[in-house]
Amino acid sequence: MMRRIADVLKQGQPDEAIEVQGWVRTKRESKGFSFLEINDGSALANLQVVFPEQLPNYVDLIKRLNTGASLQVAGVLVASPGKGQRIELKAATVTLYGEADPDSYPLQKKRHSFEFLRTLGHLRPRTNTLGAVFRVRNACATAIHQFFQQRGFLWVHTPIITTSDCEGAGEMFTVTSLDLKQVPQTETQGVDYSQDFFGRPAYLTVSGQLEAEIMALAFTNVYTFGPTFRAENSNTSRHLAEFWMVEPEMAFCDLEGDMDLAEAFLKYVFQYVLEHCSEDMAFFNTRIDNSVLATAENIVSHEFVRLTYTEAIAQLQKSDRSFEYAVEWGLDLQSEHERYLAEELFQKPVIVTDYPAQIKAFYMRLSEDGQTVRAMDILAPKIGEIIGGSQREERLEVLEQRIRAQGLDPAIYWWYLDLRRYGTVPHAGFGLGFERLVQFMTGMTNIRDVIPFPRSPLNAEF
Ligand code: 4AD
Ligand code: MG
Repeated sequence: MMRRIADVLKQGQPDEAIEVQGWVRTKRESKGFSFLEINDGSALANLQVVFPEQLPNYVDLIKRLNTGASLQVAGVLVASPGKGQRIELKAATVTLYGEADPDSYPLQKKRHSFEFLRTLGHLRPRTNTLGAVFRVRNACATAIHQFFQQRGFLWVHTPIITTSDCEGAGEMFTVTSLDLKQVPQTETQGVDYSQDFFGRPAYLTVSGQLEAEIMALAFTNVYTFGPTFRAENSNTSRHLAEFWMVEPEMAFCDLEGDMDLAEAFLKYVFQYVLEHCSEDMAFFNTRIDNSVLATAENIVSHEFVRLTYTEAIAQLQKSDRSFEYAVEWGLDLQSEHERYLAEELFQKPVIVTDYPAQIKAFYMRLSEDGQTVRAMDILAPKIGEIIGGSQREERLEVLEQRIRAQGLDPAIYWWYLDLRRYGTVPHAGFGLGFERLVQFMTGMTNIRDVIPFPRSPLNAEF
């Protein structure tokens, strides 16, 4: 029977006749037989397969079965006399699907740098680390859906192509069907969009939040999980031009409810991954960052720190650390400040609330003080901001005023304002950067190594 290797390693018993398929990771030739380690992506560990020299065409077969080659093997499981594995497969019938020329196959036995592997986006999923990353990424996604589905949240699909800027930050990619080759580069500013597909400028979404609010005001609790795009300078280890975001939105909910949900949510996902990916997580802990397991366990079992932006500024000013960027009430926290708070001062996730209105988006609810908004950011050790959220401005006049104050056109947001005209309610939500979560979970330092096909300035292979 055809089996996946993870299943064989876990459940396989001596004398069972099985078949597996996969790719050769290593080959060791010995007198009278050869050992090949085979991997099919289902587990970090390989299955050791023994090839006895009695196999038909043994010499030729072993010569052709190099690292990277694909094959199918049928045989019988035997208890392994060697160290490192419980069970191994004794090959009886072998089908070689495709060879991999050892002189040109770029993935050799030695450890390659992540930078080098980024130039091999089509082959790096076959390495131990990237394999573990993408299994953990899959487990995170599964846990996220489970968490929301168990709580009765509706998964809603918000548009990729939009005509409104959710964050009002103007960091959007333009979508056009116009043949820009016909338009001189210098004149793209003056493109006549009335001739374009939608008859108006259209963009790739930076966030599904505004549309999620529409759905929350009908279904109470909803979430999105989809790709988002930002034309910002993403030449850092924490920014991508295309990333995935998870955005829950809850009607009849305030900032406290929002923070409680976000904290329960992160705890749930970490717990799930610890339970379902123990082998991969142990690998990250030994090979990538030896605090990964302790951090994950800490998240599951300890409360996050909560403090206001004003308190955070006071803490930063009090510290004896010198920062590159100024610390002053009214200025946004930079990544060095965020990391100081989460990594050094509290050594756990920190929820910072009540930011100055002028540095946050127009949709956040203005507080009684007229200076701050009911915003919250969750800062993670080594990453910085991982979640951004807020209670939303549900009062029509205040919202209109805030849109104008930020130099935006209320006419574009007419439908968003309608939600405040008809049956408005207090509501709140947040956005989790999915890749930043995977980074946090695995200890991977560069965000380009936790998404299969990263997009950043001057980098969009495939
Ligand atoms: O803080 P942001 O900009 O918030 C929003 O977009 C809200 N509309 C979310 C909401 O309330 N529904 O982005 C949310 C998160 C950030 O905390 C960060 O983790 C991630 O998205 N993020 C990025 N991740 C990778 N690359 C980028 N360029 C990112 N920009 C934001
Ligand atoms: Mg943010």
